[in-house]
Formats: sequence, structure tokens, C-alpha cells
Amino acid sequence: MNHDHHLSLFEPLTLGPITLANRVVMAPLTRMRADRPGDVPNALMAEYYRQRASAGLIISEGTQISPQGKGYMDTPGIHTDEQVAGWRRITGAVHAEGALIAAQLWHVGRVSHESFTGELPVSASAGPYRNRTTVRGADGSPTRVDCPIPRALRLDEIPGIVGDYRRAARNARDAGFDFAEIHAAHGYLLQQFLAADSNQRTDEYGGNLANRARLTLEVLDAVIEAWDASRVAIRISPIGAFNGLEDPEGAEMGLYLAEEIGRRRVAFLHLSEPDWAGGPVLDEDYRKQLRAAHPGPIVAAGNYTAEKATSLLQAGLIDAAAFGRAFIANPDLPRRLRESLPLNAPDQATFYGGGSAGYTDYPAWSA
Ligand code: FNR
Repeated sequence: MNHDHHLSLFEPLTLGPITLANRVVMAPLTRMRADRPGDVPNALMAEYYRQRASAGLIISEGTQISPQGKGYMDTPGIHTDEQVAGWRRITGAVHAEGALIAAQLWHVGRVSHESFTGELPVSASAGPYRNRTTVRGADGSPTRVDCPIPRALRLDEIPGIVGDYRRAARNARDAGFDFAEIHAAHGYLLQQFLAADSNQRTDEYGGNLANRARLTLEVLDAVIEAWDASRVAIRISPIGAFNGLEDPEGAEMGLYLAEEIGRRRVAFLHLSEPDWAGGPVLDEDYRKQLRAAHPGPIVAAGNYTAEKATSLLQAGLIDAAAFGRAFIANPDLPRRLRESLPLNAPDQATFYGGGSAGYTDYPAWSA
């Protein structure tokens, strides 16, 4: 482990061929403001991301790899030419400010609703499932509904899912992103395969740890092959409950994945910690085990403050910290952290859906 008592959030970080100007990362944040029809990234989104370009790296909101991968109204996709063109405007606006941006590749699996495609959501297995998602209500506004019991993916459908990730990674590269981050966290499709409870399969994608990890690692390999390991990241949430899924073997699975991911020399492993969502604080021992399993760069998120990030950086346990809600409310978050300036408070009522209010109208600091 590399202890460095002088390391700060405001020093550069080299990830493969790319150097981040600082270690304050904007976490992936679903905001449900894409254009309909077509789930197309728009000019308002470009302005929102551009405002936050002082981050060392921006990670995009979850972006569906296929129509089937969509789980919430007005989330953007990265599977049509129109969507790629929309993202190209966004990556261009961010690059013009000298910043970097990753695309988060997303398939929600069972966290979805038949109103999006006219078909049942898919998952590892067709088990009972209690969770809610957000669809367009009769009056057009966001409405919370129960997710139906999903349909189990057939074995012969799995190559198509891997292919959708591969196409999405190529699209991300073509749209001008700097990295592709695979979303294998928060109880969405890949974690539905990883977790013992949600995966009851008896084929080679279910059963033991290696079988349950097979889809995630096939996706990782496909995305690496489509682009380059140095341009690929993956987000996991091994501990805690998200979207009605808590893996009793999550700690073990997290370490297994960290080792497999580390072996592939990806740009970074992104750890989503559970305490911001009602879960436990990640313990120091587990951090050390993750670090030992994954010697490459680790970005971590979840209830971070500058102080917590700095102490974990200096202990050699993380390499950068991602901030979610603080970045929603503070477009100039790196400066505010660096100068210990007060933070704007985020307004939860405008997190999901709507227009510029609570999206592009949070002010930067002015004395
Ligand atoms: C999130 N989070 C999230 N995570 C992810 O991997 N993909 C996503 O699309 C989203 N969307 C999202 C939307 C909103 C409104 C919130 C608040 C959170 C989780 C996020 O990346 C981060 O892990 C948490 O917000 C915890 O970090 P903070 O907010 O405590 O810094």
C-alpha cells in the first residue's frame, strides 16, 4: 500500500493515457431530463455538464445500452444514431472546458416496467420482486409504480446482451467520451446476476460465485475488446441494499470481482459505498482487502466529504473520490472544497425530471 501523507484531492491522477486535473470526480447521477421521444441527450443536459467541467472527471448519468435496458422515464440512451449525436454535443461542450467525461453504460434489468417497451422486464431469474420505478403518468408527469415480476433471460439471449454493451461502448467512443463505465452496481441487471438471491439459474450463469460473475466479466471483456482496457471502468456496490437487492455474499463477490477487474488493467474500479443509502459505513479492513485485490486506481463514492476523501487518499485506500448530491447543487464543487467555501444545499424535489429548475440554476460561488 502506498501511503502518502501529502496527497490531496487537488493533485492530478493518471489513468492510462489520460491525466485528470484533480481527484474530485462527478458521480453518475440520473436526472431524467432527456428529450422524448427517443431518449435523446439535449442542449439543457449539455449546459448542466458544461457547468460542472471543473471536476477532474465527469461520469455521465446511467445511459441505457438498449430499449430493454431502460427503467425510468426520460433517461438517455446510447444505442441510436440520434442519441450518439446528442452525446457528441455534450462531450464537445465538456472538452471545450478542458474536462473529461465517461459514459455510464446501464441495463436496469428488473428495475423497470412494461410501459416502456410493451414487454416484461428481464432479469437473471423470474423471482418475486418488490421495488418501484418511475414512469410517465397519464398527465405526463413522473409517477411511481410497482415493478412487475420479471422474465428470466433465456441462455440464447445472453450473447445479445453482451453485444448491446459492446455496441454501446463503441458508441461511447464515437460520441467522444474519454471512458466507458459499466454500471454493475445498485441492483441493476449485472448485479441481479451477481447476487445469490436474485440469481436462481441452473445454467453456467448461475450457481457458484464464478458462474454468477460470468455475465459481468463477459461484458467487461467485450467492452475492453471494443475499445481498450485503459478506457474502461466498472462500478460495483458489493455491500448494502439498493433497489430491493442485498447480496448476502456481496463482500466475497466484491473481492472476487476486484481481483478479476484488476487483472484486466482497466482505467479504474469505481466503488459505490452504501452508507448514503441507509447502509453500513464500509469498514477499513474491507477497504484494505479491496485494495489488495485491485492494485489499479480506485474511485469511491458515497457520503464523501473533502476530509474523508483526503484521509482515505493519504492512507492509500482510494485514488479519487466521486461526489453526487454535492455536485448536483454546486457546479463549482472542486473550488468550494479546495477553498473550504460553504456548499449550496441540494433540493431533492428536483432531482428527477423537470427542466432547468434545480438542474442548471444552482449558482457558482461569488463573494
Ligand atoms: C444517484 N446515483 C447513481 N449511481 C449510478 O451509478 N448511476 C446513476 O445513474 C445514479 N443516479 C443517481 C441519481 C441521484 C439523484 C442520486 C442522488 C444518486 C448514486 C450516486 O452516483 C452516488 O453514489 C450517491 O449519490 C452517493 O454519493 P453522495 O451523493 O453522497 O456524494
